[in-house]
Amino acid sequence: MEELKTVLIAGGSGLIGKQLTKVFKERGYRVYKLSRNARKQGHVQWNPKTKQVDEKYLSRVNILVNLAGASIGDKNWSTKRKKELIDSRVESTEFLHEIAAKMPKLSYYVGASGVNCYDLNVDKVFTEEDAYGSDFLSTLVKDWEQASERFSAICPTLKLRIAMVLSNRGGSMNAMKRPVFFGLGSPIGPGTQYHPWIHIEDLCRMILFGIEQNLDGTYNAVAHCDTNKTMMKGIAKYMNRPFFMPSVPSFILTFFLGERASLVLSDLRVSNDKIKKAGFTFKYDQLNKALKALFSK
Ligand SMILES: NC(=O)c1ccc[n+]([C@@H]2O[C@H](COP(=O)([O-])OP(=O)(O)OC[C@H]3O[C@@H](n4cnc5c(N)ncnc54)[C@H](OP(=O)(O)O)[C@@H]3O)[C@@H](O)[C@H]2O)c1
Repeated sequence: MEELKTVLIAGGSGLIGKQLTKVFKERGYRVYKLSRNARKQGHVQWNPKTKQVDEKYLSRVNILVNLAGASIGDKNWSTKRKKELIDSRVESTEFLHEIAAKMPKLSYYVGASGVNCYDLNVDKVFTEEDAYGSDFLSTLVKDWEQASERFSAICPTLKLRIAMVLSNRGGSMNAMKRPVFFGLGSPIGPGTQYHPWIHIEDLCRMILFGIEQNLDGTYNAVAHCDTNKTMMKGIAKYMNRPFFMPSVPSFILTFFLGERASLVLSDLRVSNDKIKKAGFTFKYDQLNKALKALFSK
């Protein structure tokens, strides 16, 4: 009998990792997750900061998916927090590369990355060929991708520049739903700024697609880009809540969130032509379809 393919997901306890685990298992893969707090079955203890890992399953790993990283949106970006955001991605990836020496069967690597790596507020649709921007997140992504790139000496390496993940289990959707729930639905900032997004189901399908098609390189994981106003209005519609409040002025958001406000206020449009040319088809390629599916569950 053919042996089950084994996947190790670093940061597999998070929003994407949980859903991805289900998808892998349905597809017949064996899944382990690296966690700094491994209490559940299938979770393997590691601490990238102190460079410790429970090695017992490493020799079985065929596929390594790296989703580890402190949350970008949760806390204000103080100098200390910025260092944490960088280290939790770059040092974790470097440590994974070190322990890959103990994974003789490793044949594929997927590294999460972010779509917020291009120049912001420029009237252009960015492709993977474009240069990195110069703001904090762009620099973070550049270093993170460079760390992932080390795996290309070992096996095919897929770096996915992930857009805002739409899920009904948390992440950015929760933040957008909160004011709408209280009847305060409105555009945030000018409302005309574009946000790239992807439905979580499509993101998991894309990771599987990459593995099964042996894709190598950097790809934007973006289904579509919509304006903030369209997104907030769409959410209000599916929540049966009003949408008539005046937009939240940018300066108020910047006052409360500091530099982190750029996550909501920045205007960014990104192309998904490359992944589509590789043969991937989106199930949710329009906002309406994605929201309908999320709110029907
Ligand atoms: N969700 C999105 O909209 C989105 C968009 C673009 C990119 N991404 C990227 O995709 C990856 C996964 O996203 P997600 O939404 O699933 O994130 P998440 O829910 O925050 O999960 C990330 C996981 O990383 C681990 N982690 C947290 N802090 C860490 C640290 N200091 N050192 C090492 N590991 C740490 C945690 O696992 P343990 O606590 O079990 O160790 C956590 O479960 C992240 O790197 C994120 O930046 C996400």
